[in-house]
Amino acid sequence: MYKGSLSGRQERAPQGRRHAGSQLERIMTKTSWSPATWRQKPIQQVPDYADQAALEAVEARLATYPPLVFAGEARKLKKGLAAVSRGEAFLLQGGDCAESFLEHHPDNIRDFFRVFLQMAVVLTFAGQMPVVKVGRIAGQFAKPRSAPMEKIGDVELPSYRGDNINGIEFTPEARNPDPRRIEDSYRQSAATLNLLRAFAQGGYANLEHVHQWMLGFVKDSPQGHHYQEIADRISEAMAFMRACGIDPETAPSLRSTDFFTSHEALLLGYEQAMTRVDSTTGDWYATSGHMLWIGDRTRQADHAHVEYMRGVKNPIGLKCGPSLTADGLIQLIDILNPDNDPGRLTLICRFGANKVFDHLPQLIRAVEREGRSVVWSSDPMHGNTIKAVTGYKTRPFDLILKEVKSFFEVHAGEGTVPGGIHIEMTGKNVTECTGGARAITDEDLSDRYHTHCDPRLNADQSLELAFLVAELLKTSRIGQAKQAVASGF
Ligand code: PEP
Ligand code: CO
Repeated sequence: MYKGSLSGRQERAPQGRRHAGSQLERIMTKTSWSPATWRQKPIQQVPDYADQAALEAVEARLATYPPLVFAGEARKLKKGLAAVSRGEAFLLQGGDCAESFLEHHPDNIRDFFRVFLQMAVVLTFAGQMPVVKVGRIAGQFAKPRSAPMEKIGDVELPSYRGDNINGIEFTPEARNPDPRRIEDSYRQSAATLNLLRAFAQGGYANLEHVHQWMLGFVKDSPQGHHYQEIADRISEAMAFMRACGIDPETAPSLRSTDFFTSHEALLLGYEQAMTRVDSTTGDWYATSGHMLWIGDRTRQADHAHVEYMRGVKNPIGLKCGPSLTADGLIQLIDILNPDNDPGRLTLICRFGANKVFDHLPQLIRAVEREGRSVVWSSDPMHGNTIKAVTGYKTRPFDLILKEVKSFFEVHAGEGTVPGGIHIEMTGKNVTECTGGARAITDEDLSDRYHTHCDPRLNADQSLELAFLVAELLKTSRIGQAKQAVASGF
């Protein structure tokens, strides 16, 4: 393995607490954390519920409902992410920007899962390492908004904040936050997760089905042909292994896969209600999803979202946008991962294609200097949103590719691990991001623009991105191997 110098550097103990005795101590008096302590902090992005009693009743009921995920599963994911931090696995995280009640359909879940599996296979094959699979699904409802109000003509109404908060229709009734939506989203998450578990464990993910994961409309695209080639080679390898006595019946990892869920922990009343003590360790876990992340708009060190997240033991993510300074990042790491636990913290970088070189190197250097163990992941979506001339919010595919490429380039230069990607995607044949091999234009956007929030990659574009990342991963693997040899490993 090539993990020598890289893992060695990352496993060093933190170099002291730069913020000890100052703001940090005020923020984290470890003993005083409870799932409710966030309520004493300032908070951003909270919906304005007219009926507080109804909200409290919903939260009280949710606290008695079954957990969606188990602590043991979250620990398994953390272990996988620890491997990612050492360069021994790759993180693929993706799904809708916002799940919706309208698109809740088994076919949508299946099509998403299929494309996701295809991407994972492409990456596993090229990277020759395991892919840790994390969906933005089964709980990804609440959305942070840049403006609290939306104006159309002379009418101004509260912004849409996700289906678990209010409705997307531009009417006063729909835009009024309704606490019953939180329970509806809990039930949708449970049903979605149930199907995903069945797909992941019940045979659908069997590698012998690698050809069947192809979606009809992708078959005749360049990506489709490229995928076909890889699928053929995998089938050949499977036939060889079967001849040697290893097949899906005897080797469970060939017939099933681990699939984890994640979402932005934005609606803290819901998260609190779903926070439970793990009976085997006595630790608090968020049971609304395996991995939760803090959004770019709610990562203030002394605010509510960071307070809530520091106390749960799940693996967590932190969105890192252009406004995050190196000192600010180290302060957040102090709070969110004080024990420097590998796999605990994934830094999801979303700077914009032209800003990666301005921001990423200094963050990496600070993390390396302080000896912190993190997973570096690239979100090439959220820094690259533009308004098309036709008025649609879109993302040019070229910029998405450019951001990922720059992310890999910076890591190659710093000798650190480009651990994963975080994307907004769907299995559907939508037209929301421009470009890609099928060259979706601004004019095409209106054809099938279905997203409830940000524009997603369609199945073709997702696969195209996977092939590009696979190439980058191959190069990075070779580069790391050379580096390890040079350092005498
Ligand atoms: C998102 O992931 O949908 C999102 C809103 O991201 P960010 O917090 O990075 O803007
Ligand atoms: Co989004």
